[in-house]
Amino acid sequence: MNIEFKHSNINRRFNNAYNDLLNRLPQIHDILLDGKGFGNDLLGWIDLPLNIKDQIADIKQTATSIQQKCEAFVVIGIGGSYLGAKAVIEALSNNFNALHKDRQYPLILFAGQTLSEDYMADLLDILDQKDYCLAVISKSGTTTEPAIALRILKSHLEKKYGKEEARQRIIAITDRDKGVLKSLAIREGYKTYTVPDDVGGRFSVLTPVGLLPIAVAGFDISSIVNGACRMRDEVMQKHDSNPAWQYAAIRNALLENGKVIELMVNYKPNLTYFSEWWKQLFGESEGKENKGLFPASVNNTTDLHSLGQYIQEGMRLMFETTIHIEHSRSRVVIPQNANDEDGLQYLQDKSLTYINHRAEEGTQQAHLEGDVPQITISIDKINEESIGELIYFFEFACGLSGYLLGVNPFNQPGVEAYKRNMFRLLGK
Ligand code: PA5
Repeated sequence: MNIEFKHSNINRRFNNAYNDLLNRLPQIHDILLDGKGFGNDLLGWIDLPLNIKDQIADIKQTATSIQQKCEAFVVIGIGGSYLGAKAVIEALSNNFNALHKDRQYPLILFAGQTLSEDYMADLLDILDQKDYCLAVISKSGTTTEPAIALRILKSHLEKKYGKEEARQRIIAITDRDKGVLKSLAIREGYKTYTVPDDVGGRFSVLTPVGLLPIAVAGFDISSIVNGACRMRDEVMQKHDSNPAWQYAAIRNALLENGKVIELMVNYKPNLTYFSEWWKQLFGESEGKENKGLFPASVNNTTDLHSLGQYIQEGMRLMFETTIHIEHSRSRVVIPQNANDEDGLQYLQDKSLTYINHRAEEGTQQAHLEGDVPQITISIDKINEESIGELIYFFEFACGLSGYLLGVNPFNQPGVEAYKRNMFRLLGK
């Protein structure tokens, strides 16, 4: 992984801010690792790539038994209990996985991340026709959206298979001993995995929360964890060239210089949910006490024909962080056309990746000229290892960045406000 930064308008103010932040990082790094900062009861994610290794065999075994008996696997969860699995599965899967006739592994379907009645009804229609199992994931075990989805799907599963068989088809991933879900799991005898006490939801993708659904989808979770371990070694280095230090310092220096929106940019639709995961990670971690960058995302080149106009010429509030992928897993080239009716002769025999890369380069130049600073994070290709690296990179950078900003990156007090109103309106 490589990180690069370009700014058309580097001035003394930006440079001073960047250098000040970088100078603070050795201390911030120690505060994070020594557990002396805010939210230090939620730092279990730091050593997770090492500690989770003991559980991998058991997770793989459960995944295999699910693969053997199910055509679909429903993952019930919201926020950090859903986005990590969704992001990784989409990034690694065939873009048309659901339609693929040679698909080997269960289709992973998500529930409990929305209260949409139509979504649930459509899901139930599909599940009427498929053999399925489900995992209900909630660290607190009390979150309303997944609890509602579980009540509906448990009843569907029991009608379809009978109570005894339904119990064998439900897995609960929750707190070690607290919460309604834990009590239900004990009462019903569900297979259970624990979300460690010291790992918050949005940092939990490398626990069974993310790893079980990813393994059921047929991906090699050992390689994901190995990738995370490799990145862990890299970002542990106390050095100015540490990419997590650089990313944390650049984005905070830009924030101090009026760039209040960070856009995560990808050029591949199957990274859309990786951006969603990143948005939750940084948005919930930093957006508090009237502080924090607003994390947003675009999927290019699609969005160059919509938000591209704003990015080029609208209010100068943003910078972009592009995930550059050097190699694609497939090759499609522009075919010959003797008459050149479409005027695309200059592209003949060029691959789509070549063209996509030129679009990326051209966009970055244009946006730079439009005073949109550019961070580029480059990886060779998308696979289990590189996804593991990216996950750990962003988690570590998020911890550092939150401390630089002066907030507790590991809580989310603001999420309670909507719940209070909703419960009052529902007469709870
Ligand atoms: O990052 C977080 O802690 C949150 O986004 C949670 O993951 C989300 O609210 C779901 O919580 P729970 O897993 O307790 O149902």
